[in-house]
Amino acid sequence: MMTPILIMNLILLVIAILLVIAEKLLVTYGECKIIINKEKILTVQGGYSLLNYFAENKIFIPSACGGKATCGYCKVEVLSGAGHILPTEEVFIGPQERSKGVRLACQVKVKNDIEVLISPDLLHAREYKVTVLDIKDLTHDIKQVILKLDRPTSIKFKAGQYVQFKIPETDEFRAYSIASVPSQNDRLELLVRFVPSGLCSTYIHEVLDINDKIVVTGPFGDFYLREELTRDIICIGGGCGMAPIRSILLDLAEKNMPRKVMYFFGARSKKDLFFTEFLLDLQDKYPNFKYIPVLSEPKPQDNWEGETGFVTQAVEKYVLEGPGAEAYLCGPPPMINASVKVLTKKGIKEIHIYYDKF
Ligand SMILES: Cc1cc2nc3c(=O)[nH]c(=O)nc-3n(C[C@H](O)[C@H](O)[C@H](O)COP(=O)(O)OP(=O)(O)OC[C@H]3O[C@@H](n4cnc5c(N)ncnc54)[C@H](O)[C@@H]3O)c2cc1C
Ligand code: FES
Repeated sequence: MMTPILIMNLILLVIAILLVIAEKLLVTYGECKIIINKEKILTVQGGYSLLNYFAENKIFIPSACGGKATCGYCKVEVLSGAGHILPTEEVFIGPQERSKGVRLACQVKVKNDIEVLISPDLLHAREYKVTVLDIKDLTHDIKQVILKLDRPTSIKFKAGQYVQFKIPETDEFRAYSIASVPSQNDRLELLVRFVPSGLCSTYIHEVLDINDKIVVTGPFGDFYLREELTRDIICIGGGCGMAPIRSILLDLAEKNMPRKVMYFFGARSKKDLFFTEFLLDLQDKYPNFKYIPVLSEPKPQDNWEGETGFVTQAVEKYVLEGPGAEAYLCGPPPMINASVKVLTKKGIKEIHIYYDKF
């Protein structure tokens, strides 16, 4: 038997659904202007999300969830015209961002003129049509995917940045850090870890094939090598966190490794290590570079004589006290959080610690 409260809730739900349908069918918002960075104006028929209009106009804002407000990547600063922040946005927008008017572009419906600020770097992001040149197994769960750029034929990015991979036949994208060197601008190399039941990583591991044509957008991200600086560099990575750091190392190697670099790579056992030959070669060639792999659960058959424990224990052991270095960290959130704590305890300023967590 339905209780009165249940009946009331059902009626409210039906009214809410009818209101949404009525809004879609009956309300037209007419012509609206989206003013970007006080200079570029998009004139649109209102009613859809900012993200929609950006995509239509080839302005590529990062987004992974197809506009479902679950990834939190599509942030832009809105100066006016967006109305109140929605409950779907609240979890992604911190107090400081809120005071600056940061909003999720997929949740802001354009109903009137609206003024937004988009970082100039994002305005340079483009869509690239690419062909899969090669796919290789690096470990039991990580593949290296090599893409050749077809149109446009070259890309400009900074070592450490990422692109978004469009999952064919869907509106969904996933971010993958670029593992190749910026100077090789006609190709992109990605490292993709298999996530059980993960949409994109399963597609890449099980469906994607050599010669497939796909689409990526980018470059994105403020995790990149600060080339203008001269401090010593500490890199800490785990899993596919190897990708942006490999790009950074290749970039530095092309410049003859002008700064001291220590690279700590955390893995469970030997079967999770990869690019070992490349990293040991770099170490042999450049006295400025030191590679320190750290295994948390080495197996007896690994015959491991290197560092063991958490990667942070090795950081404690090797990194000298003092503010003189900067750090680039990429890997799972617990590893990054613990590393930031150790590095700041060593005296490295938080503003000199850059990271991408995934
Ligand atoms: C800036 C940035 C750079 C990135 N670079 C890389 C990269 O170089 N290589 C790479 O492999 N990935 C990278 N990622 C992660 C990547 O974008 C995807 O999130 C990941 O591949 C999972 O996507 P999916 O579609 O397979 O899984 P989804 O379908 O999105 O998720 C399936 C399930 O797995 C869970 N899940 C999602 N991601 C993870 C995860 N990383 N570990 C464990 N569980 C997860 C979800 O909560 C969900 O329950 C990056 C992410 C960011 C934000
Ligand atoms: S696109 Fe994912 S939150 Fe907006």
